[in-house]
This record gives sequence, C-alpha cells and structure tokens, in this order.
Amino acid sequence: MNKPTVVSGIRPTGFLHLGNYFGAVQNFIKMQNDFSCYFFIADIHSLTTHPTPGNLQAGVRQVLAEYLACGIDPEKATIFIQSDVPEVSELYAFLNMNAYLGELERTTSFKDKARQQPDNVNAGLLTYPVLMAADIIIHKADFVPVGKDQEQNLEMARKFAKRFNRMYKTEVFPIPRPFTAGGGDMIKIPGLDGSGKMGKSEGNAINLVEDPKSIRKKVMRAVTDSGPTEMNQKKPEAIQNLFTLMDIVSTPDTVAHFDELYNKCEIRYGDLKKQLAEDIIAYTTPIRERILEIHGDDAYLAKVAKTGAEKARESAIKTLQEVKEVIGFKKLF
Ligand code: TYM
Repeated sequence: MNKPTVVSGIRPTGFLHLGNYFGAVQNFIKMQNDFSCYFFIADIHSLTTHPTPGNLQAGVRQVLAEYLACGIDPEKATIFIQSDVPEVSELYAFLNMNAYLGELERTTSFKDKARQQPDNVNAGLLTYPVLMAADIIIHKADFVPVGKDQEQNLEMARKFAKRFNRMYKTEVFPIPRPFTAGGGDMIKIPGLDGSGKMGKSEGNAINLVEDPKSIRKKVMRAVTDSGPTEMNQKKPEAIQNLFTLMDIVSTPDTVAHFDELYNKCEIRYGDLKKQLAEDIIAYTTPIRERILEIHGDDAYLAKVAKTGAEKARESAIKTLQEVKEVIGFKKLF
C-alpha cells in the first residue's frame, strides 16, 4: 500500500529557532520513516518581506543545512527549495482564480503582517495562503506537520482543495490534515519575553545554532515576576512559558522539582533559568555542531537540493497535468 503523503515547509528568513524545531522539524524527523515526505524551503513566501538577494541565498542555505543537521534524511524524505519547482507557481496562479478577497483579507496572518509592515502590504501577503495551499496540494498531501500558528493557513488550504474538487467535480486533491505527534493539539512554543509565541519577527527566539553563552544570556533575561505569594497558585503566562520550555527540554524530575518549589512559594527563578539554559544547551549542542559542519559542505548541499528538486518536480508535474486537464486546458498543437 502507498504511504500517506506529507508536505511542510519553512521560510528562510533567518536561523531555525526552538519554535520551528519543536513545532515542525521534530515531527518531520519522526514522520520521514513512515510517510512519503516532502520538506521544502519556502523561499518564494519569504519574498513578502523583500530580502536582499544575498540574504535570500544565505537564508536558503542556512535552512537547508539546518534541516539536514536536525536529522532530516535525504535518503528518506524529499528535501527541496520551493522556487526549484515552478509547477507550484503555476498551480498558485490557478488557485488564485478561486480565492476571494474577503476571505483572504480576514486571515489573522494577513492582518498581523499588514499591521507589522504597513508600508509593504503587498498582494503576495494577501495571497500567502493560496501559495501555501499550492505547496501542499501539488503533492496531494494527506498530512501537514506545522505549529499552531499555521492552523488557519492550513484551514485555508483545506478550503481551497475542497473548493477546487467541488467546482470541477473531481477528487484530484485529497483534503490535507494537520499532523501532531501523539494526535494532540498543535504545538505553540512560547517566547522568553512573556509573550505567547517564539518567533523570528518577535525577536524573542533561541536559535538552534546559538552558542551556549548567548543561550544563557537570553534565558537569564527572560521575563518573570516577583514570585508566587500563595501556595499552588496558577502560574502567570511568563512563568508558565518557562515551564512549558522546561517540559520540552528537561527531564520530568527536573520539571517536577521546580514545580514543587513554585507551589510551595520557594522558587528562585534564577535557579530555574540556570537549569533551563543548561538543558537547552544540552539539547541543541549536537545540532549546532552538525549545522556548522554541514553548512560548509557546498557539494553535499548542492547534491541534496538537486536530487530533491528532481523528485519534487516529478510529483508536481504529474499533479499539474491532471489539474490542467480538469480545468479544461487543451493542447492545440
Ligand atoms: P514559518 O517559517 O513561520 O515557520 C516554520 C514552522 O515552524 C512553526 N513554528 C512554531 N511552532 C510552534 N511554536 C512556535 N513558536 C513556532 N514558530 C514557528 C510553524 O508553525 C511552521 O510549521 N507559512 C509557513 C511556511 C510554509 C508552509 C507551506 C508550511 C509555506 N508553505 C506549506 C507547511 C506547508 C511559515 O511561514 O512557517
């Protein structure tokens, strides 16, 4: 039986951070053994923020090296760069004809971006979910492993796939579903500034490639409060965020220890932060070392990108041919 298909991508707008890793990449690594996986670098999506050519190239190379360093295996998964598969842009053009201004304007990510960059509210931002849908459905994905922040974009992809199928009375596209390990809710890794989400543009991220000194500095600066005043009181967001990070990188014993101290109002945030920083460092150090190693290997990176592009195009060309037939494009020559 055919393995279910998985598609996901990351924008090359900087270094991968813990949010990207635990929200997405960790699932990629788990899924590559049992699914037919397409993991890509969303370089076209990253153009919405107008990177310089130099920054774009450096970002693509960085994410590619980071994918590999994290353990995505090009022998198991197809790893490719979005712009190496022009069929995606063609499908994007077709899907745009059935995507409506009202629904695109209403997406939270569009509203957020329009607020963040009021001088650059471009059409690419508006149709961002359409390109994302094209990325996903061009490989007929069954599952999309993404963090909680992408939930709405994925919902739009489902909507566009359904709409196309309905409009042309076809079943050419499976309806993609979110994937979360263990089947629970989609993950959201919090920031260190008391805010809900760790993110590149939020400036509150710890990168996988970050050196220990810098990790310690960032964690020690994390926002806290003056401490609990009542036994077993509910943790405010900034404190809960530190515990959430600890849940991910520390042992259950360590978490239980600090939880108990918190509940007894005996916690010293400095100790908790020191422990958290060391546990993040222990987690990321082997990854950082591999990133630095792979990043310099031009020949290997080029080979992975070339093989990935060929495999991804093969799949994309097949779907696009079906789509064109369904739409009614007919060759006159
Ligand atoms: P991007 O580049 O913003 O983020 C890449 C992945 O990391 C996840 N992520 C997080 N997960 C949990 N907690 C966080 N704090 C956190 N920050 C980031 C994101 O959910 C995402 O999975 N639009 C996408 C890229 C994309 C894509 C696609 C994804 C383009 N086409 C098709 C899947 C399928 C994006 O900007 O992700």
